[in-house]
Amino acid sequence: MAVTQSSMEQSHDDSLAPLAETKPLKMLSGTLVSTDLDRARHFYEEAFGFECVRHGDDHLLIRDRYAKAAMDNGSDDFIVLDVRQVSEIVTPHRMCNHWGFDVDSSDEVDRIYEAFKERQEELGLIKIMPITKAHGAHGAHGFYSIDADQNWWEVQYVVHGYDNAGIFSRGDSMDRAITPGGTLTSKAKRVKPKSAPDCILGDGDLTHGTMKAIEIERERGLLRDVLGLNTVQYIPQAILFAGNSDATGVANFAVVSLGIPVPNSVPMHSDVRWVLNVADVADLRAIRDRALASGAQYGEITVGEIQESSSEASCLIGDAEGNWFELTTNGDKEYQSIFNGSSV
Ligand SMILES: [Fe+2]
Repeated sequence: MAVTQSSMEQSHDDSLAPLAETKPLKMLSGTLVSTDLDRARHFYEEAFGFECVRHGDDHLLIRDRYAKAAMDNGSDDFIVLDVRQVSEIVTPHRMCNHWGFDVDSSDEVDRIYEAFKERQEELGLIKIMPITKAHGAHGAHGFYSIDADQNWWEVQYVVHGYDNAGIFSRGDSMDRAITPGGTLTSKAKRVKPKSAPDCILGDGDLTHGTMKAIEIERERGLLRDVLGLNTVQYIPQAILFAGNSDATGVANFAVVSLGIPVPNSVPMHSDVRWVLNVADVADLRAIRDRALASGAQYGEITVGEIQESSSEASCLIGDAEGNWFELTTNGDKEYQSIFNGSSV
């Protein structure tokens, strides 16, 4: 049962500083929903080469080639996606909630775009947006497509040359043009997949997801000071956040918080959330206590009760923008075992 923070006695004071001494180990997964997992699986496999495993009655766990390579090599530099079957899509996504892949050239983007158009009906895509050339704030050559579950998928070539780790090493910036400079990194540093790509995407990797955060500075405080995530200002209307990773300091996968007003947008259902792996119940309690103690500092947040079973403790936290976060003691081993077939 969720507890609305605004109804609770506020106990925030300076004794909380320094904040965020306890951090999540990593961002483990993102969740999304589908009304037909078989149909969704066909799209995920054919378009993006996702490895898909059914678990439980109504879940599909998926990972890209780079996530598999990382997991098989004991690296924590990965994210997986957990898709749950639902009877209806309660909160159709918009551009501010999309999943993004990076590929290595504009030509690759153009090739993938043409293949999507050619196979649009078979893939169940309800819309393929025109390619946006690299200019302005985004600095990427890419396009969005919308699947039958109204999830948005982006394929892009980042012209400015920064990947997520590069953006974090660049530090806070309000540079809309994202002029190349500073430390550039690339997926060349990642563990290479053993298998050749067998999908439309080719050798791309899942690099980011996004969410809406209009009050972007306030949101950054919650992400950094309460949840303990690494954050960096990307451009005036966007910040990036990522879990901690032994491999890179920040996980290769990052979430982009977009301060872009979208008409008629509604709060996300908690079925759609960012899942953060914490070391143990004590760390989970520490982060949850920080959320409870933060008062209205970060807007009206929602702090759920701790759910405990014999194998897992978890807790939901909702922000003032309608986004959801799950803290869980489940880690990469639990997900690896599902992909290895040692757990159903
Ligand atoms: Fe994107």
